[in-house]
Amino acid sequence: MPIPVIMDVDTGIDDALALLFAVAHPQIDVIGVTCVAGNAGLEQVVDNTLRVLDLAGAADVPVAGGASRPLIAPARAASHVHGADGLGGIVLPESGRNAADESAVALMRRLIMQHPTPVTLIALAPQTNLALLLRTHPEVVERIERIVFMGGSASVGNATAVAEFNVWHDPEAAAIVRDAGAPTVMYGLDVFNRVTVQQARADELAAGSHRVGRIVGQLLGHRVALSEDESLTYTGLIGDAGAVCAIVAPELVRFENLPVRVELSGYGRGQTIVDRRPFAGEDRLHGLDDEWSRSDVALDIHADAVADLFVQTVLSLPGE
Ligand code: RIB
Ligand code: CA
Repeated sequence: MPIPVIMDVDTGIDDALALLFAVAHPQIDVIGVTCVAGNAGLEQVVDNTLRVLDLAGAADVPVAGGASRPLIAPARAASHVHGADGLGGIVLPESGRNAADESAVALMRRLIMQHPTPVTLIALAPQTNLALLLRTHPEVVERIERIVFMGGSASVGNATAVAEFNVWHDPEAAAIVRDAGAPTVMYGLDVFNRVTVQQARADELAAGSHRVGRIVGQLLGHRVALSEDESLTYTGLIGDAGAVCAIVAPELVRFENLPVRVELSGYGRGQTIVDRRPFAGEDRLHGLDDEWSRSDVALDIHADAVADLFVQTVLSLPGE
């Protein structure tokens, strides 16, 4: 049976890749998509998401807009990463439909409570919508199979030296999600940064005859600036799509169930501290063990196999 999922996105280059993969893969049933500000402003994210779902032939999947800014912090610009329009200037046909006239929280709650089996939430953006859902409707927790989120890091950050963008953008939301009681799977930068499609393959897709493949090749070819210093860029990262690949091919990822906490203050704000010690340490002794909750943390990945899975799967979408 396909896994029923709701995807929360800030479409962006790699959110688009994740949406295309999820719609294409036979083991995934995308029952809804919710949008949040992050890589771009909320309206742009909703527009981008509708266009990508149309491209995937999934115009029947309901889309709802959610939070236009984090719970506490101001919204952060990310245009140097995904471009001003969030899709690196890659223009997709305008969608013929609008987002649902219900909020992201209302759509998530309705879909979760109506679905006959527990639903998996795939969070690929700042977790503001999920935090609002879990605080407003805690009754959904027992109907959530698990929350698979792209976010955090057990090592280095990207937004700051120690914090990953999605968690850093709304650390309070990430902390709320962690403590809500649903099982969580953390697909962080430790694996996120490793799964790339080679430039030659991306170029081949972009020049190819497959309609979706051409867009995927262009998205993969977008030069993502690592900071305002545009000279430092990377291409080919499947990014968020790797978190969805990890759901359908968990054998390609090494997970460890570890204690994780989210830092909310100081330079470390937004850092996910992953406790990889084989011993308890002195946290309990000094009363420092109250902010931890456990996640299945992705620590290693068969990057080439995941990249191949991604490309083969998106090419299974109608190509004419
Ligand atoms: O840090 C990477 C994350 O930030 C990805 O989800 C990307 O789309 C951006 O939202
Ligand atoms: Ca994202």
